[in-house]
Amino acid sequence: MVDLLLGLQWGDEGKGKIVDVLTKDYDVIARFQGGPNAGHTLEFDGIKHVLHTIPSGIFHENAINVVGNGVVIDPVIFKKELDNLGKFNIDFVKKLLISRKAHLILPTHRLLDAASEASKGKAKIGSTLKGIGPTYMDKTGRNGMRVGDLEFDNWKEKYRELANKHESMIDYYNVDIQYDLKDLETEFLEGVATLKKLKFIDSEQYIFDAMASGKKILAEGAQGSLLDIDFGTYPYVTSSNTTAAGACTGLGVSPNKIGRVLGIFKAYTTRVGSGPFPTELFDEDGETMGRVGNEFGATTGRPRRCGWLDLVALKYAVQINGVTELMMMKGDVLSGFKSLKVCTAYHYKGEEITHLPYNIEAENVSPVYKEMSGWDKDLTKMTTESEFPDALNAYIAFLEKELHVPIKIVSVGPDRKQTIHR
Ligand code: IMP
Repeated sequence: MVDLLLGLQWGDEGKGKIVDVLTKDYDVIARFQGGPNAGHTLEFDGIKHVLHTIPSGIFHENAINVVGNGVVIDPVIFKKELDNLGKFNIDFVKKLLISRKAHLILPTHRLLDAASEASKGKAKIGSTLKGIGPTYMDKTGRNGMRVGDLEFDNWKEKYRELANKHESMIDYYNVDIQYDLKDLETEFLEGVATLKKLKFIDSEQYIFDAMASGKKILAEGAQGSLLDIDFGTYPYVTSSNTTAAGACTGLGVSPNKIGRVLGIFKAYTTRVGSGPFPTELFDEDGETMGRVGNEFGATTGRPRRCGWLDLVALKYAVQINGVTELMMMKGDVLSGFKSLKVCTAYHYKGEEITHLPYNIEAENVSPVYKEMSGWDKDLTKMTTESEFPDALNAYIAFLEKELHVPIKIVSVGPDRKQTIHR
């Protein structure tokens, strides 16, 4: 069976930390979608690590890490990630396997992303500008370059042809984008040379064989359910299926082989980039969450927008993914709030609704809140649930009752050790 670990909000829920905590229970950690738009932060022994493409099991001795077919890889960023991990003496050839069917992000995909965003003006998506959208467009348009192409002698011709096409598309956008493709290509070739040192595999077969031999596999999602290309807040989404079904197509796992579905959410909500966010706060409370929670994008450094927990959206994500257990992150950040709010319904076209409607822009939707008591105690040193303040227990109990799924982990700080199992 394959267990899934998914973000249930707009990304940045803390998936990297939880994969890292859980890896000891798994033989294989596999990424199934997204690319270097993700920034998975892991903290242990006082050091913070940010991974973009490499699965979060890389620091564990025995775990094999697979980059699946649903992922898009930028060889340039990939090389930087490997270089940054150089000091850890990790045997990448043994521990990191790359699907031949994963698509490659070319330098011109990044430029196209920038040109597309610039052409949108105020309506921009707020993309991380890593070339994700254009690469998935080439994939579904059946023009893309895949990792497996690098095993053929003519790959540079294929690259040239695609890059030429991209250059004329960049011209079409008619926006002011300055670039020197020669420099970018040099970097790209260096990245490809590094990528080619790793083992390329038919990852669906690898996963299939691993399952057959009883190995425990964890599929690691990137971004969050509300950024899903189909079910997220379109068009302010990423270009892949971030939800459970994405693990099936992004790894070649059949639906009846999915086991536990671990859903991760923050005790409040954040969003980076543009798009609707019904519970967003523009006051001191939002500012406090951002400051205490250190809410800055791990990939772009942009400040994250902050707001109260949105149970309508969270319930939707639990349903779409079939979540079997929940993990609540950053509980410690809510310490010190006199009272807390949880959005339990939306005012929508004169009605009160409890499902996510087609459009959740502020002009259509306003949140209905339940107010709950806050707590003062610092949670960050706690090691067992028995130390939790009553108000936190009440918060957790209310969420479990509303979501009908148990909260199995409460995270009270960024370090591996600050993880309380229930
Ligand atoms: P893109 O995937 O880089 O094109 O970005 C599309 C939208 O998804 C933007 O709003 C980004 O801020 C957001 N996004 C992409 N990756 C992440 C992530 O890992 N965490 C949070 N937001 C993300």
